Amino acid sequence: MKPIELAKNVYWVGAVDWVTRDFHGYSTYRGTTYNAYLIIDKKITLIDTVKKQHQSDLLHRIRNIINPEKIDYIVVNHVEMDHSGCLPEVVDLIKPEKLICSKMGHKAILKHFHREDWPFHVVNPGEEMSLGDRTLNFIETRMLHWPDSMFTYIKEDGILISSDAFGQHLATSERFDDEVNQDVLMYECTKYYANILTLYSPLVKKLIAKIQEMNLPIKMIAPDHGVIWRGNPGKVLDAYSRWSVNEGKGNALVIYDTMWHSTEMMAKAVADGLQDEGISCKLIDLRVNHRSDVMTDVLDASAIVLGCPTLNNGLLPRMAGFLMYMRGLRPTNKIGAAFGSYGWSGEAVKLMNEAMKEMKFTLCHEGVRVQYVPEHAELSQCIELGRTVGRSLKEFFAGKEIESVG
Ligand code: FEO
Repeated sequence: MKPIELAKNVYWVGAVDWVTRDFHGYSTYRGTTYNAYLIIDKKITLIDTVKKQHQSDLLHRIRNIINPEKIDYIVVNHVEMDHSGCLPEVVDLIKPEKLICSKMGHKAILKHFHREDWPFHVVNPGEEMSLGDRTLNFIETRMLHWPDSMFTYIKEDGILISSDAFGQHLATSERFDDEVNQDVLMYECTKYYANILTLYSPLVKKLIAKIQEMNLPIKMIAPDHGVIWRGNPGKVLDAYSRWSVNEGKGNALVIYDTMWHSTEMMAKAVADGLQDEGISCKLIDLRVNHRSDVMTDVLDASAIVLGCPTLNNGLLPRMAGFLMYMRGLRPTNKIGAAFGSYGWSGEAVKLMNEAMKEMKFTLCHEGVRVQYVPEHAELSQCIELGRTVGRSLKEFFAGKEIESVG
């Protein structure tokens, strides 16, 4: 339960959660951390807390530095329960002079904990506060990813405490980016953006521009999940800049579910067509891939080809659930197409096309439907669908406008 020093008198005092495998529907195979930070200054300040079940980890780490009752200020950058779950117990123990939060944070704390007697100190965007030797600057980041969200920048140390932004669900004994495997780190960072921030990409773009405009010297980015960006904070800023403009990598995903393997046969034929056009593609069977892993691939993909048979005039439940999840995250700038087998009604392709149109994908093909089991000629149609998607991708990357067929 040792604290980790980020800079002189600035400590990580959070908790590592090696167990969590599901984060409200997001698969966290590598667990996560809940990061909290303690600043020892004339006004001793705790920034964020942890999930309720990890309260004792937080307090043990703090006790290794000081008696928690000596803490003067608590900053709540974000009210979601993984960072505020133990706030009532921590406030009761510490009895802080100030509980610092954004205007929306104040509202959210009251709605969560119903404690009007707490010593709220609402900060305005850009407001500064001296702790003695150090100055905190509060940067409003409304809707990244909750209305209450804000960053706290420690001016003298150049440390940006960034709440959920720039995080990763990654439990490790190491605390810094330069101590962990870079491929694992960037995969988890990508997965985090894909599943939490994709729909806020326009705001992420503005935020990155704002940070650049503020010209803040950033030595470290300290998020509320995962490792702290000490070795190369620019790496995660660059990645966020890229993701915020939905820059695809020119590849295609064939995402499908199948009942009696007919749609699976079609999926393989579509992939053949894509490969004929030299497009890198990946087949993703929804029966064996978790939706949050699929979304991680969707983030960087340029074309999404969906396949599903018709069941009871609709979609198979896994595809319906995946579309609901993807629609919520609103990935943009994708070329789309659909295919599927059917028995007698055959609505699935139409439903997938409608879902993609709603997400503003550019449909480059009206779709292929096959009754029962595809024969050779019908598989050829699927190959042609794949080729059409491939040609559209190449035209798109050559700067040509692709007209949607839907
Ligand atoms: Fe990590 Fe939005 O909570």
